[in-house]
Amino acid sequence: MNGGYCMSKIHCIGVLTSGGDAPGMNAAIRSVVRAAKYYGIRVMGIKNGYEGLLHGDIFEMDARFVSETMQRGGTILKTARSKEFKEIEGVKRGINEARYFGIDGLVVIGGDGSFRGAKDLCENGLPTIGIPGTIDNDIPYTEYTIGFDTAINTAMEAVDKIRDTASSHSRCNIIKVMGRNSGNIALNVGIASGAEAILIPEKEIDFENDIIKPIEQGRNRNKKHFIIILAEGVKTDVSELEAKIQEETGIETRTTILGYLQRGGSPTVLDRVRASEMGVRAVQLLKEGIGNRVIGVRNNEIYDIDIFEALSAENNTRYDLIELSKILSI
Ligand code: F6P
Repeated sequence: MNGGYCMSKIHCIGVLTSGGDAPGMNAAIRSVVRAAKYYGIRVMGIKNGYEGLLHGDIFEMDARFVSETMQRGGTILKTARSKEFKEIEGVKRGINEARYFGIDGLVVIGGDGSFRGAKDLCENGLPTIGIPGTIDNDIPYTEYTIGFDTAINTAMEAVDKIRDTASSHSRCNIIKVMGRNSGNIALNVGIASGAEAILIPEKEIDFENDIIKPIEQGRNRNKKHFIIILAEGVKTDVSELEAKIQEETGIETRTTILGYLQRGGSPTVLDRVRASEMGVRAVQLLKEGIGNRVIGVRNNEIYDIDIFEALSAENNTRYDLIELSKILSI
């Protein structure tokens, strides 16, 4: 293997989804299957992520298998987080299973945990292409991950509904969103819903300046209800935070944890289109004998990059949105 090239022609591509599911994964699977068929390459579906690879839960897919799947949330291939695959013995076993089924190139759709598995496969001789699929949009080398757009729209709609009741009761509502260690969901949802404060793990929280001050400023302008978006990665006890805000401001405060509803639902146009583009690009690379790369979005365009380089990139948090939210919440 050299510079991402795997030298020999690929005859059979395997595809799996791994880690947390994300809306748009089905559009990516569909795209991989249809593109493979278009180029005359066999394609095998691997169920339950790396677990399915390890246990030979593998079946041949045809173009019709993915009909009517684009609009569905979740993943038709199912997904899992595999402990066994984190060990080198697991990786080697996975490669043996792949070879047994005739798979000589793999597409992994998942988050950065899944990409570490993909990198191990590449290092041990199975040409693999990664497609970023996670609602968190927390993979540093790419501006965009499949599922993010749907998740932020779902969360924004939920916040709009909560605002109705916050406004009727003149309350402060804390809304906790997903994102693991990234504040990207919180920042986008906070801006889109006009939150008074957005609390993210990448920035230390100053309780007085970041939370109380914007509430007081709003109150001086006769504002009666307040929205605070809290990213799940922020290390704080949310009931303590709720009590502290209520105590300091005298404003009744309530909390909603949005949770898994952010991972479900029919994917947006953007997620479907990006997933379709990425799936085709992944197959085109493998068709050319190129492995060991991941697909991403840079300057709003699809590109591919070496998997080792991708995993060493710095974080992609939109810090500029923090400043923007401050300007807009006066
Ligand atoms: O990575 C997607 C995500 O939904 C994160 O936002 C969240 O921290 C995590 O997955 C939850 O994972 P699980 O499905 O294992 O509870």
